[in-house]
Amino acid sequence: MMSVVGTTPFIKPMTSPSSVSPGQRRHTLPASEFRPLNTQDAISVFEIEREAFISVSGDCPLHLDEVRHFLTLCPELSMGWIEEGRLVAFIIGSLWDQDRLTTDALTLHKPHGSTVHVHVLAVHRTFRQQGKGPILMWRYLQYLRCLPSVRRAVLMCEDFLVPFYRKSGFKVLGRCAITVANLSFTEMWYPISGHAYMRRNSEAIRFPQLTSPLERPGTAGERTDT
Ligand SMILES: CC(C)(COP(=O)(O)OP(=O)(O)OC[C@H]1O[C@@H](n2cnc3c(N)ncnc32)[C@H](O)[C@@H]1OP(=O)(O)O)[C@@H](O)C(=O)NCCC(=O)NCCS
Repeated sequence: MMSVVGTTPFIKPMTSPSSVSPGQRRHTLPASEFRPLNTQDAISVFEIEREAFISVSGDCPLHLDEVRHFLTLCPELSMGWIEEGRLVAFIIGSLWDQDRLTTDALTLHKPHGSTVHVHVLAVHRTFRQQGKGPILMWRYLQYLRCLPSVRRAVLMCEDFLVPFYRKSGFKVLGRCAITVANLSFTEMWYPISGHAYMRRNSEAIRFPQLTSPLERPGTAGERTDT
């Protein structure tokens, strides 16, 4: 199985229509941009995690060293949403090579696996309830379709978030074998056929230039390929 390393398609930044006009040099940061994260983003990632998880439950999906670990090993499986230079939402993933998640999946990246394990999706507190989480997930799943070796995405979540991920097209696999402290999780998956890579100059690689929140709702699971 091919590794995705070295085959990562270009993630097209999203800029607002007004940010640059033809022939004009940009002097300001792009209003909005999606890009893979790198280790320099680790602190911003962890700050969002600290507020989202640690302040609530005392723990978080990825500790700072684990954030750095995955952003070093497989930055191409992460995606950040940056607005005016500020990280407002992110996803971190790694590759996994078994049907179901086990405890090893929390810390390991299996370069030859065909499953993307989505470790964490989080939106900065001040940007929640605006549809950003589903939009980011939608773009991430579209992006994964451009990676030829990826066949599916999996995640584990607390039961109350199952409806949220269902709206993004994920289906329930069953109880997750992993427990953390006294928390148990549902394991969910999303099929990714990978054929979009062959059509990289067609609609698959031209990530939608989101101009309206109308582009987000419930469409993530609707496949247009055959
Ligand atoms: C979950 C999360 C990513 C959603 O992102 P978002 O941009 O706010 O998503 P939306 O704008 O669609 O609205 C929030 C939706 O999230 C879901 N949600 C968030 N918190 C929830 C909770 N405590 N209980 C149930 N559903 C919840 C709901 O579906 C909600 O939609 P609703 O208000 O119509 O019921 C965001 O709330 C977040 O970052 N939370 C903290 C981190 C987290 O729990 N991440 C997921 C586990 S890895």
